[in-house]
Amino acid sequence: MKLSRLSIKNFLGVHEVEMPLTHPVTLFSGKNGAGKSSLQEAVRMALTGETVRVGLKKECIQLVTEGAKLGFVEVEIDHKICVALCLPAGKATLSEDYVLPRALPHVLDAQHFTRLGCNERGKFLFSLMGLNAGRTEVQRRLLEKGCDTQKVEALMPLLRSGFDAAHEGAKDKARDQKAAWRTLTGETYGEKKAATWQAKRPEFDRAASADLPHRLSALDAELAETHQHLGGLQADHKRYADSAQRLAEWREKGSQHACIADTLARDQAELKEWETKVATLKALSFSKNALPCPHCDTLLALEDGELHAVPLTQGIEENLSRLPEYEEAVCQLKQAVTNDERALADAKAAVKAIAELELALGAKPDETTLQAAREHLEKLKIDRGALAEKWAAYQEAERQVTQADERTAKALSAHESVLAWNEIADALAPEGIPGEMLAEALTPLNERLEDSAAITEWAQVVVTKDMHVQAGGRSYALLSESEKWRADAMLAEAISYLSKIKLVVLDRFDVLDLKGREELLTWLDRLAQGGEIDTALIFGTLKALPQSFSQNIATHWLEKGVIVEFKEAA
Ligand SMILES: Nc1ncnc2c1ncn2[C@@H]1O[C@H](COP(=O)(O)OP(=O)(O)OP(=O)(O)O)[C@@H](O)[C@H]1O
Ligand SMILES: [Mg+2]
Repeated sequence: MKLSRLSIKNFLGVHEVEMPLTHPVTLFSGKNGAGKSSLQEAVRMALTGETVRVGLKKECIQLVTEGAKLGFVEVEIDHKICVALCLPAGKATLSEDYVLPRALPHVLDAQHFTRLGCNERGKFLFSLMGLNAGRTEVQRRLLEKGCDTQKVEALMPLLRSGFDAAHEGAKDKARDQKAAWRTLTGETYGEKKAATWQAKRPEFDRAASADLPHRLSALDAELAETHQHLGGLQADHKRYADSAQRLAEWREKGSQHACIADTLARDQAELKEWETKVATLKALSFSKNALPCPHCDTLLALEDGELHAVPLTQGIEENLSRLPEYEEAVCQLKQAVTNDERALADAKAAVKAIAELELALGAKPDETTLQAAREHLEKLKIDRGALAEKWAAYQEAERQVTQADERTAKALSAHESVLAWNEIADALAPEGIPGEMLAEALTPLNERLEDSAAITEWAQVVVTKDMHVQAGGRSYALLSESEKWRADAMLAEAISYLSKIKLVVLDRFDVLDLKGREELLTWLDRLAQGGEIDTALIFGTLKALPQSFSQNIATHWLEKGVIVEFKEAA
């Protein structure tokens, strides 16, 4: 930022200053109360809008030089932009749409940075380096470190509350996963142990048992076949037994043939006898109507159109009364004969059938074969039982192995989650991403401070990770006035350099001794030569204006608020 002209009227101790800034470095000198700080503060207030010496804008009237009613400050930038501040309003306006750099207050007031608290200082450095500690940036960095995407996503809400909350949140999650691991394994968690932990699984030879289902189905097939074979044998035996039984029955029947024939003959004879008796009795009944033959006195009776001689019998009446009984006997005997004839026919048929049955019966099935088949079936059943038991044991073992493997996998997954959460927790720990970001913010600043210290030979200024300022290893608060001044000057320059404002404004350089002032001017001259600053405004009391300076440096003498002598570098 090249300041090309200053026009100031009635600002504090400055009555009137109207001058172009022709050199990169301009040194304003004068005695105490000459208006040096008034000039520096006029530029600062115009460019930053920050009130100086008074607390409130409405108090800006006090900034107008006593005796005057109005005042103004105009700062020209790069010969084209004009920043104007009017008093007593205290309002600054820009001649065109120009955004003043945010780091400008630090450049225009060298003590600005060290006056900040550590938090504010950190925030300022983050913004100075264009760093963003927002959630999206932290998420990007976590993913860049290889942290688990889903877990990072889950943690995002906690990042709203800051790194500490998110760090603690990740540690809690890791603890939860350790607890889950303990529940799964029943053991105390150890990172090394958990990496290789495996649930106990029963001894289990998958290969050896692989053919069990095949063997079982082969055995089942053999069992079915044996069942069928045995069924056939048993059917043969039954058939044979049934036939033998029938044969025995036929034989029994056949053996009764002679006896039945005898009975038939006997019954037939008896029937004949009784039929005769009945016929006789019936004839007697005719005799009642008989008439003596006229030739021989034989008693004759007409029956069925024929004449029959009726024997004369004593007690006809008495015999005739028994006729129904005789007829009943005949009837029964007829039935008996019929039955006998049937039984005889059966016996005859049996005799005939015996031969056929004997032929059909064939040889008796072999008991040994049947017994062997039965024994074989029994053996197969036992074998199958044993094999089924083995198969059930195999399946149980396989189930246990699967369960164990699942536990192992779950435990490993919990362990991996522990590692993943720990990784995130570590990344969010102060020395993780916050540290990295801080280092990114601090490193360029500290490197610039190191360069400045090397050039000026002043104590090196360092901004520590906890945002404390040190010079020569000593805390800023312990430094002497001139040491603080040097530290502030180098910090302001470093901010100017890093923000590319390239403007240095330093008041009260007279706190330095002669050597220090020389070192300051040499440093600024070098910066100007290297194009690392566009403008440097230096203010301080001197006894008299220095005589010889680099061509980059212009000097002005202030007295009672006006420039009274201009001395350009030789
Ligand atoms: N509103 C004002 N009107 C007139 N003079 C003022 C006003 N406010 C302050 N002054 C005075 O203006 C003078 C210049 O002040 P300034 O701070 O600029 O001096 P300086 O050159 O920086 O002095 P020093 O070497 O002590 O730092 C001082 O005497 C101061 O009291
Ligand atoms: Mg002063």
